[in-house]
Amino acid sequence: MIQLDGICKSFGENEVLSSLDLSAKKGKMFVLLGSSGCGKTTTLSVIAGLTKEDKGDIYLDGERINDTPPHKRGIGFVFQNYALFPHLNVYENVEFGLKAGNKRSTRGGNKTEVKRALELVGLDGFENRNPMKLSGGEQQRVALARALATEPECILMDEPLSNLDAVVRERLRHEIAQLQRDIGLTSIYVTHDLVEAMALGDRIAVMNNGRIEEAGTPEKIFYKPENEFVARFIGMKNIFEGKIAALDEDNGVLQVSTGNFDLTTVFVPSSVGTRVKACVRPEEIILAKSDQNTNVRSARNEIAGRIVSISQNGPLMRVLVDVGGDEMSVDITRLAARDLGLNRGDRVLLTFKATSVYMIL
Ligand SMILES: Nc1ncnc2c1ncn2[C@@H]1O[C@H](COP(=O)(O)OP(=O)(O)O)[C@@H](O)[C@H]1O
Ligand SMILES: [Mg+2]
Repeated sequence: MIQLDGICKSFGENEVLSSLDLSAKKGKMFVLLGSSGCGKTTTLSVIAGLTKEDKGDIYLDGERINDTPPHKRGIGFVFQNYALFPHLNVYENVEFGLKAGNKRSTRGGNKTEVKRALELVGLDGFENRNPMKLSGGEQQRVALARALATEPECILMDEPLSNLDAVVRERLRHEIAQLQRDIGLTSIYVTHDLVEAMALGDRIAVMNNGRIEEAGTPEKIFYKPENEFVARFIGMKNIFEGKIAALDEDNGVLQVSTGNFDLTTVFVPSSVGTRVKACVRPEEIILAKSDQNTNVRSARNEIAGRIVSISQNGPLMRVLVDVGGDEMSVDITRLAARDLGLNRGDRVLLTFKATSVYMIL
């Protein structure tokens, strides 16, 4: 287990980590998710002992390691840019960590350890190759092997896939997940990519401005964020401030009024007048022209609006709809947009279920 308690780190005037707490369970994959510049690399660097914290404690399996030199911490590091030595071949690169005295146990000798590590990452037979002549994916495998060869207590990976193309990235992502589970290695994986975080993490911590906003399982973070920053980060586009206007426990619903419109959501015990933030995912809204039959009988929410804009949003189309002064984003497929013949200014009806409205209390 890796634990950080109240870690602070400033570079000059710039406070990069502000009393950061984090706890990564033994044998699990902990993902640190956050946008560029929020302090992810600095966090890993402090854990590895490459950057000295100003304040706070670092524990590895209960042992305080603040004063343990980096090579004695039993921590493997995989860098975003691979950081391989161009003048050494693959074998020598993997052996490097062992020679540098990073290894805790000594059984087997270097040759066995290097071979085992290269096998783990699917690179046996690559020993004599020049790393600079390998593909990006292969280079990152070498870097992974170099970290694994020392049989570390835990491994830190800093956006290891971000320089790879999409196909290789996905394949290597699966392999890293498999490998991590197979050897039950305590891991901290840093990324700015939500999809990667969701796919890999046993737990995800969303980081912002040098601290953790919220940590939880991928499902919790994605479907039930407790924090508005996290909600926005995971793509909860429509977030409306409102007040609870009515409670209807018998029917299992409650009413939130934003001032511009009312939303019906699933009942939770609360009281009328409580301030909440009601969120609706763009992909859970069904859009129809006002003069069409919607046929969505189970939908409790029906809001009329007018199209402000239509734009491409990844594989989907994002339709921005003015709803009585607020704006709601709706994602629909390209085909649906074409079939509906949508145009700016069209009057539309937005329908969605009570279960599609999520409240941050
Ligand atoms: N060695 C350093 N000296 C000065 N500023 C640094 C140093 N390392 C990082 N920073 C600053 O700390 C902030 C966080 O950086 P970093 O931890 O690399 O973020 P992330 O990995 O999340 O993108 C940035 O503003 C960066 O410029
Ligand atoms: Mg970084």
